[in-house]
Amino acid sequence: MDQQLYDFGMVGLGVMGRNLLLNVADHGFKAIGFDTNPEKTKALEAAATKGTIVKGVNSLKEMVDQLATPRRIMILVPAGKPVDDVIESLLPLVSPGDIIIDGGNTYYTDTLRRYEYLQPKGLHFIGIGVSGGEEGARFGPSMMPGGNPEAWEHLKPVLQAIAAKVNGEPCVDYMGKGAAGHFVKMIHNGIEYAIMELISETYDLLHHGAGLNNQQLQETFAAWNDAELKSYLIEITADIFKVKDPETGNDLVDMILDKAGAKGTGKWTTQIAMDLGVAIPTIDMAVSMRNISAIKDQRVEASKLHDKPVNNAADFKAMIDDYKKALYTSIILSYVQGLAMMQTASAELNMDIPMQNAVKVWRGGCIIRSTLLENFYKAYLRNPALPNLLLDDAIASLVQANIASLRKVIGLAAANGFPAGGHMTALTYYDAYTTARLPLNLLQAQRDYFGAHTYERIDKEGKFHTQWT
Ligand code: 6PG
Repeated sequence: MDQQLYDFGMVGLGVMGRNLLLNVADHGFKAIGFDTNPEKTKALEAAATKGTIVKGVNSLKEMVDQLATPRRIMILVPAGKPVDDVIESLLPLVSPGDIIIDGGNTYYTDTLRRYEYLQPKGLHFIGIGVSGGEEGARFGPSMMPGGNPEAWEHLKPVLQAIAAKVNGEPCVDYMGKGAAGHFVKMIHNGIEYAIMELISETYDLLHHGAGLNNQQLQETFAAWNDAELKSYLIEITADIFKVKDPETGNDLVDMILDKAGAKGTGKWTTQIAMDLGVAIPTIDMAVSMRNISAIKDQRVEASKLHDKPVNNAADFKAMIDDYKKALYTSIILSYVQGLAMMQTASAELNMDIPMQNAVKVWRGGCIIRSTLLENFYKAYLRNPALPNLLLDDAIASLVQANIASLRKVIGLAAANGFPAGGHMTALTYYDAYTTARLPLNLLQAQRDYFGAHTYERIDKEGKFHTQWT
């Protein structure tokens, strides 16, 4: 048996688990990984950077016995029962004070259940959101750990070393109590869904409206990525238009079927927002658009029955700069919605999420990284208790400076039959949130008329009912 003690253990050597563990080893820590599949442990050792200490074992006991205490053991297996199975296998092997970390996209109540199950056994359980895909895991992810603060302190040296860096600061920090880490990651994914939907709507207007070909689309998104829209998702969008399909020689993007998949994190965000009574209409719309895209056959049938307005490409060509500003504004409003939900959930679910930490770690390494996040980080540093970024003067100015383009683009899209629901819900959210008196006094009257549900008055406290007939 290898006598040396290892600093960090990984259960599950799929691409994410292997890449994260190699990243740990690249930063001078002794890394040991377990997988039932000998091919994966061999692949781990074969991929290790020369001079680093990396070991792959096919016995969980062998891994645990060789970890220095308090042990740091990350689990990266498919979310759900596999995580519970690994925890049960670890229980007879670990000691009080050890830290078990779940790095998957886990539903936050599962994390809370595991946290509460392990705490009485003297074990720390950290749910950590990991963002940035395989590349991020290998060379610098954004990470969102939540749970026991002492456990975070013991993980800090390793996680700060392997995280992406922005201005020299690691894109990892404490996200709050209990399941806060996985909750923050879920909201990250909800915002990711919204931004991806908004980019696809802009692509539609540029390509099918203004008639830009893929090369022109590549140039447009690449130019936008050099300015205020600088972000990972805009960057990869520009790259996508360059890729040829090896089979047909066509641009690959044109060969891809318009039916979107989803692993579910966006749906969770929408479901939980409804339970919390928080409005995130652009994220809701992004989930719905994926659902509408999935019923392709019905859409083809319906397209034969329902005519679209005849488009005038010149109208669309004149709006290129407006699409950029509309996209920029709608993306800001997507972060606004997701972060307002995070702030509400932090209080309602007793997570004490440091809002500035969430946006700080999103500045690099993650899928929704963008230059915009520096603006949000500064806003929460000014006021971590801010209920909504639209109440921050600097953010309010950013939106006001570009909102006219959003209104124009939505008008063009609506008049020409382009489904731009992401942009439309972003504008509706903005207009509703910034309206002091909404027309829902009438709705209250209707509820009281047919259901005697009572209403409040503008001139005095209390609940009132009127016999309307
Ligand atoms: C990340 C991504 C990742 C997510 C993919 C797929 O932060 O690296 O969010 O965690 O699994 O985006 O998500 P969907 O299949 O739901 O689009």
